[in-house]
Amino acid sequence: MARALIPGSFDPVTNGHLDIIGRAAGIYDKILVSVVRNYSKAPLFTIEERMELLRKACAQWKNVEIGSFEGLLVQYASEQNVKVIVKGLRAVSDFEYEFQMAQLNRHLTSKVETVFMMTGTEYAYLSSSIVKEIARLGGSVKGLVPEDVETQLRQKVQPG
Ligand code: PNS
Repeated sequence: MARALIPGSFDPVTNGHLDIIGRAAGIYDKILVSVVRNYSKAPLFTIEERMELLRKACAQWKNVEIGSFEGLLVQYASEQNVKVIVKGLRAVSDFEYEFQMAQLNRHLTSKVETVFMMTGTEYAYLSSSIVKEIARLGGSVKGLVPEDVETQLRQKVQPG
């Protein structure tokens, strides 16, 4: 059974992430979407909140499972018996960082392969950071994130 891992911070999940997850779910038998726990940036959502939002957004795909991990990605992949890491590439600007990570992960183990998918052009500009900024500044994030995320974002940035 071909299993693939989609790692990320998902703070929060966007429609761009879902585009990649859904397309990967149509290719691989099983997709494990995992939230990184050792995250250096100051997150807006807790790990549990991010996992719950992912669970709801991915409920439409029966072969997608949500998890979390700490430490090295390739170590986690081998513990989960996953040989493929799927990453989305939005623009050339993503390439350098993703290229570095893929090369270093390959240096760490040759047993895990990184596969890149081009994000749909309608999501090429989208990131969790920009979505949080729009929400903080009172703009609408409709169409950029699932409705549950939209609601929770509104509560987070405008409490009470
Ligand atoms: O959504 P993000 O923030 O771009 O995800 C980055 C992530 C989680 C894929 C990356 O930070 C990662 O793989 N972290 C695990 C730690 C690790 O293995 N580091 C070495 C990579 S060469």
